[in-house]
Formats: sequence, structure tokens, C-alpha cells
Amino acid sequence: MNEKLFLSSIENIMSSEQTLQFAQEMGMRFNRLMSYYKCAMMEIETKFRVLKEEYSLRHDRNPINSIESRLKRMQSIKEKLERRGEPLSLTAIEEELNDVAGIRVICSFTEDVYTIAETFLKQDDITLIEKKDYIKNPKENGYRSLHLIVAVPIFLENEKRIMKVEVQLRTIAMDCWANLEHQLNYKKDYDFTEKMRKELADCAMLSAQLDEKMDELRKKVSI
Ligand code: GTP
Ligand code: MG
Repeated sequence: MNEKLFLSSIENIMSSEQTLQFAQEMGMRFNRLMSYYKCAMMEIETKFRVLKEEYSLRHDRNPINSIESRLKRMQSIKEKLERRGEPLSLTAIEEELNDVAGIRVICSFTEDVYTIAETFLKQDDITLIEKKDYIKNPKENGYRSLHLIVAVPIFLENEKRIMKVEVQLRTIAMDCWANLEHQLNYKKDYDFTEKMRKELADCAMLSAQLDEKMDELRKKVSI
């Protein structure tokens, strides 16, 4: 090997090592940030579990049917930042994305959605950042849910960090529609016709009627 080739291969090794080190460092910082989101998600999930527990003791029925949580996967984070033309950085994740940590609370009746949201937002460590009421104003495709973006503190060994969490509250009927619609829309390359879109919107309307009827029945039996 001549000297020039030798030096350039050393240079390559050096830079690939530095790249590797950089990637490792970034990976560690990314994992740390994800663990903060996981802690915030656990905090919020616990709050709803506590409410569910209390309701099961103090009331005849439980307004909270089930609670789900999820952390956004690295691939989805990357795709969302790219879609928005944002850099792939930890700062961009924290500043631009509200739904890295997500909680879904499935309630029994529509009124429960608002009662639970209000009870939750009254807690003094919760700050409301944004509220989107897709129940009063459903999306064009028929999607209904109450979305809250909140900030919650997490207490680490030497610091307190404020993290954002997305909370989606909806009834069983809203959840049923959203789940099925998501599955139908998942295969993005499939040609979803206007007629099919209309049928899905009709189904959303039926699910809204179901919620309304159930609420009327609930009022009749005064629960
Ligand atoms: P995203 O970029 O999708 O997060 O939208 P956004 O930031 O404008 O927030 P939005 O409150 O509209 O929606 C956030 C989340 O609500 C989504 O990630 C879904 O989980 C849910 N969602 C919103 N619209 C729909 C919908 O039409 N169908 C279904 N199944 N879920 C929806
Ligand atoms: Mg989202």
C-alpha cells in the first residue's frame, strides 16, 4: 500500500470512528429523551388509573372503561419531522411534536368524557397547552374525540423536567369507529373512493347517534 492510500484509509477509519461515536452519543441522548417521555406517560396513565379506582369504589358505575398508552416509535418520529420539514434533532422532537407520549382514555358515555377531562385538568401539576374538541366539531371524515395536549412535571434524580403528553378521550362508540377507520385507511396505496369515504362518514354519524341514544337512556335511569 502506498503512503497516500495508507493515510487516506487512516483518515477514513478516524472519521468513521468519530461518526460511530457521534451516532452512539446521539442514540444515548435519544433513548434518554424517550425514557423521559415514558415517565411522563406513566405519570398521566397513573392519574387516570387512580380516578378509575376511585370511581369504582365511590360510584355505582365507572365512567372510565379502559386506558391505553403508547410511545411513538423512532420511525414515526422521523417520518413526522420529515413531513413537517423539521430537522431530525432532539430539540425538534421536544418543540415540534406533541404526541411522542400518548394516552387514550375510553369512557362509557359522552358526558363522562367531559367530566373526566375536567377532573383531570383540575389537578394542580397539569398544565393545559391545547384542547381540540372533535366531539363538538367532528373532523370532516367523521372522527370524534376530545384531544388534550398537557404538560406534566417528572422528577428525576437531580432535576425536574416538564414533558408534553397527548391525551385522547372518547367513548366506546367513538373508539370503535376510529379503530376501524384507522385499519381501513392503513393501506395508504389502496384507492379509497369518494363513495367509501361517504360510507365511513355515515358510520361515524351512526356512532354519534348511538352515543346520543345511550346518553338519553342513562339519564332515564339516572346514573
Ligand atoms: P397528527 O399529525 O396526526 O398528530 O395531527 P395533529 O397534530 O393535527 O393532531 P390531531 O389532534 O388532529 O390528531 C392527533 C391524533 O388523533 C392522531 O395521531 C390519531 O391518533 C388521532 N386522529 C386524528 N384524526 C383521526 C382520524 O381521522 N382517524 C383516526 N382513526 N384517528 C385520528
Ligand atoms: Mg399523532
